[in-house]
This record gives sequence, C-alpha cells and structure tokens, in this order.
Amino acid sequence: MDQRRSKWRTALIATVLGAGLITAPQATAQPTAQIDDGLALTPPMGFNNWNSTHCRADFNEAMVKGIADIFVDKGLKDAGYQYVNIDDCWALPERAADGNLVPHPVRFPNGIKAVADYVHGKGLKFGIYTSAGTKTCNKDGGFPGGLGHEEQDAKLFASWGIDYLKYDNCNNQGVDAKMRYTKMRDALKATGRPIVFSLCEWGQNKPWEWAKDVGHLWRTTGDIGDNWNSMVSIAKRNMVLAEYAGPGHWNDPDMLEVGNGGMTDVEYKSHFGLWAIMAAPLLIGADLRKVKPEMFEILGNKDVIAVDQDKLGVQGKAIRTEGGMYVFVKPLTNGDKAVLLFNENDSGAQISTTAEEIGLPKSFAYTVRDLWAKTTTHSAGSISAALPPHGSAMFRVSASNDWYSYPPAVTAGADAAVLYPGAMPLVTPGKPVTYTTTVSNTGRLPIFHTQAKLTVPDGWTVTPKSSPTKLILSGEKQFQTTWEVLVPATAKPGRFPVGATFTYTSPSSTTPVSTSYQTEAVVPGAAPVGVKFLSDHSWLRASNGHGPVEIDTTNGEAGARDGGTISIRGQKFTKGLGTHAPAHIEYYAGGDCTQVTATIGIQDNKVNPLSLVTYEVWGDNKKAYDSGPVTGQDAAKQLTADVTGATVVRLIITDGGNGKSYDHANWGDLKITCK
Ligand code: GLA
Repeated sequence: MDQRRSKWRTALIATVLGAGLITAPQATAQPTAQIDDGLALTPPMGFNNWNSTHCRADFNEAMVKGIADIFVDKGLKDAGYQYVNIDDCWALPERAADGNLVPHPVRFPNGIKAVADYVHGKGLKFGIYTSAGTKTCNKDGGFPGGLGHEEQDAKLFASWGIDYLKYDNCNNQGVDAKMRYTKMRDALKATGRPIVFSLCEWGQNKPWEWAKDVGHLWRTTGDIGDNWNSMVSIAKRNMVLAEYAGPGHWNDPDMLEVGNGGMTDVEYKSHFGLWAIMAAPLLIGADLRKVKPEMFEILGNKDVIAVDQDKLGVQGKAIRTEGGMYVFVKPLTNGDKAVLLFNENDSGAQISTTAEEIGLPKSFAYTVRDLWAKTTTHSAGSISAALPPHGSAMFRVSASNDWYSYPPAVTAGADAAVLYPGAMPLVTPGKPVTYTTTVSNTGRLPIFHTQAKLTVPDGWTVTPKSSPTKLILSGEKQFQTTWEVLVPATAKPGRFPVGATFTYTSPSSTTPVSTSYQTEAVVPGAAPVGVKFLSDHSWLRASNGHGPVEIDTTNGEAGARDGGTISIRGQKFTKGLGTHAPAHIEYYAGGDCTQVTATIGIQDNKVNPLSLVTYEVWGDNKKAYDSGPVTGQDAAKQLTADVTGATVVRLIITDGGNGKSYDHANWGDLKITCK
C-alpha cells in the first residue's frame, strides 16, 4: 500500500468509519483513466434553480416544467440550452427504509421520474444534485448525501433518467476529495447511463489539477452572488485556469446570475460575455418565468453562445488586465478569434487591441463582427471599443479577403481627464474641466462629415475648444475634440450624465450613421476639515467582498449593521470601518489633507486559518501604505499613511492571494488629518 493510500485509509477510518457513517470505498476508487465518454465536449448549457430560489417553496415541479416549456417556446433550446437541473432541497431529510433518497412530497408530488419524463418529452435533458458528504449543503440541515451510498444513489438516479449530476462538497467528513468524487464517477459509470458529472468542491483541492479524469466540469470558486463584485472576483479567479479546460473537462465559475435583478443590463452582458469567452458552462440561474424580456436577448445571443460552444474547446485567456481594462482572446475552430474587451472600472474606458496581438495572421484588413450590435465592419488591424463603466464589447475577428464589402469600424467615446485609470470623473463646481471626444476610424477607407456633440446637464455650460466637425477622416486616423465643461458653483454633490453623440457617413452609403456614448461627471461633497473620523464622512464610493462596508461596526457579511463591535485582539473600537476583502473605499480629500491613521487587524470572532488580507492606502495614484500580509494571528497594527495633496484617498483591502474566506478586515479609529 503506498503512503498516500495508507494515509487516506487512516484518515477515513478515523473520521468516518469510526463514526459508523459509511463503508470504506474500494481501493479502485483512485482517479484512473480519463472519463473520455464523449459527454460535455462543449461546455454544458441549461438551467439550475439554485441562484433564483435557493430552498424557497417556489422551487417545485411547476417551476421545473415551466422552465422546460420556456426553453422550447422562447428558442433557448434552439440556442443550445439543454439541461434542466434541480439543486439542493429536492429530497426529504431522511432516506426510506430501503435506503433510497425520497423526493420532497410537496415540491415533487409526482416524484422525480415524472419531472424527468416531462423534461425528456420536450427533447431536453434532466439533472439532479447531491453532496459528496453525509448531508447536502442547505443550512436547514440538508438531505442525506451520497458519501457511502454512491452505488445506490447512482442507480436510483439512473432509474429516474438523470442525465447530469452536480455533486457538492458539504459535510464531507474530511474524506479525501479525489476519493469521494472518483467513487461517484465509478458508480455513475456502472449504471451504464451517460451522465454528465459536475464536481462542486469550490476549488478547495485544486480539482483542475486532477479532476480531468474524474468529472466533466469542476467548480473553481465559492458560490456566486447576484452582484457585480462577486461576479467579477469569481471571473478573475477562473480566468487564470484557462490551460486546464478542454473538451470534456471544463472550469466552472458557477451558474449564471443573468436575470436575477442584482446587476444592471450592462453588467449582465459583461457577465455573460466573460462566461462565454472563458468557455464556462452556461447554466441559467434565473426564474425565466419572471425575467425582463431584455434578459432573453442576453441569454439567447447565438453569436455569443457560439463563442462559448466553439468545438475547439479552448478557454479564452486574458492577454491584458492592467488598470481594470481587460482584453480576452479565444481561438475558434475556423481560425477566427473571439475578443472580449471588458471595463471593470466605474469610469468609461476605451480599450483596444490589434489583430497581431490577438494572434491573427497578417492580412491587409480584417472583418470585425460585433456580437452584441450584430454589425460587421472592417478594420486595418485595430480592434477597439469605447466602453461605459462595467461595460464590455465582444467581437469575432477574421483575416478577410472581402473586407471592402463592409464599412470601416468606427469607435466613438467621450471622457473627462481622470486622476488614475479607473478613477471617477470628478468635477469641481466653479472650476472648468476638460472632456475629450474621440472618433477613431480603424478601417482602411475614409469616413465623411464626422460631427461630435457633447451634452451636459441643465445649467452647466459646454464649449468646444477645437472643431467638432471633420470633413474626411482617413482610415487608421483619430479625430478628437476638446470641450470645456463648467459646473455652476451652486451644483449639489452627485453623479450627472454626460452624453456624446456622433454622426458620420460611410463610403458605401449616403445615410449617416449615428452613435452615442454615455459617460458621467461626479460632483464630490466637501472635503473633511481638521482631524476627522473617516467613518463620520461620506465616501465617494465603496465596494466590499460581502455585504456593505460597515460604519463604526465590523462586517457581518450580509445586510447593513449586522456585524457588531470592532474588536482586534481584544481591543475594542467604537469608531472605524468594517470591511471584508476585496474592498475599495474612496474619499474626496480635495488636496487639503496630509495623513491617514488607523489601528488595523482581523475581527476577533472571525479569526480562521484562512484569514489573510493586505491593507493599502493610496493618495490618488500613489501608494502611501502597504501592510503586507495580515493574518488573524497578527497583533493589531498602527497604520500611518502620508496622503499630502491627494484629491482622492483610497483604502484597499486585498484577499492576500488565498481567496476571500474569513477576511473580516477592520479599520479601528480610522482618522484623516486635513487643513
Ligand atoms: C453549495 C453549492 C451551491 C448550491 C448550494 C446548495 O453552496 O456551492 O451551488 O448547490 O450548496 O445548498
């Protein structure tokens, strides 16, 4: 017996057999041959109820049938969605006398097979859920898991006609993950029914390194939430694992939130585009019986889906990530490249790449298909987009011989000068600020009669400082206009829309093309005066890993004010901020402040071996303080940061590189010194 196996046996016997919970898996339950069964050759597409219902009563037979109906009626089945999957809470808390799992009689009065039959009757497939532990994850206790019951549960699932199993990780009794998941893989295989096997162990044991032989997909992160921060942080953790994905074995950054209501339409498009470029499973997580019609346009976008489902099966890579401006590239079967330009920032951004940078062969020109606008243009090589905050653009780019049949690709945007990439476009009442509109013709042929216009809120003035019109704009040339915007001295703090509209004529047509771009201007409130607790001052913006940033309490992860007293190694604070990694808070300092001080450390009752963060303080684009790694064992630290002359003071908490679990980072007695 090799060392690893003997270690595993000891652990198993101690933790599980000792507790009389399960019988020992056979020694054959080591990952052996690759699954290689022809399943999930492209990332699975379908539905799962969890993100929308959790265990609420509206998770039931009617919902599942309703989703299957909508898949057919709204064209989602045609678009490639196939699996209708049910999650936790479908069963009763106890097994039957014969040891079988029992469907919840209220949710599924006709049993699971009846629902599976209904779904199959629509030409779709049906999936189910259980955990590789003694119980599932549901906080109310869960239902019995598959650990030690692998064969019996797999047989039951196969007899119901299950086509997909999501196998969770809760209550795993410390048994080796590879063992647990391999045991179920073999049990599923033994049924003789083709069943897609989805490992849901949250990336805890780096499944990308071993699960290719065990399952068809594996979760790479903890659970997604229906909010921007959660979605982006999950995308970032999944994107670095591209090399591990391929046909039959996919990285799974969790199910989609599109349609659940916690993000804007712009953000949901970015979410869907990110998942598609990363060849992620596309499992709709919203109750399609209730979503806005616009959500079907996102979820049903066949051009974007084609990128996700491309048979080459390569997960797109981020070739640029600096300053929150991302360029992702995914090679496609026919030699085209899919490109996602993604703006993580709260301010607009123009993001560009080139045909060369994305690895296309040299060509005189390229065709660029905009997968959201559904237009095709030609480019001499530059691929570019003016993106709103949190926006993205997705293209399919091909080296092309018939490029001249398409109009030149034109990008038009407007931006205020900002303090650093991703900064908010701040304007000070009474002080003029410069905006620049830019029209880029990235094609080979000229465009004509280009006209730019900037519109500002009522009472503000806007004056062009250079010409807003251009008769001929040649290929590969830009045309910029600068505008002076004056905000009245009486303007109240707030965020105000600034819009730009552009018209021009393409060589192939006499009808003018018009495009518009929305950006904004932010009028800050007053800067602090004297020595002030920052928790008494309003921030410009704040984002936090879990729940809101808390004022004068620690972070409790969910709603506002659920955290309690700030406490660091026994020292209590009545003033300060309670954050949770990753967090970012910005205050307007107006150039009149000099110093930030605080006592920092992890919240006492949240200390865990996984607690690890870093604290940073920035004055505009200059780092003024970096704590280095801070764990739950570390004594409270004194922070002093020199922010002299900064317009904006930024407080940043990172997850220290080990994920964001148990990262309750406090800022006790957080103060700023100003004039
Ligand atoms: C875990 C999983 C989720 C969901 C729930 C159900 O948290 O990661 O996707 O299945 O369990 O309880």
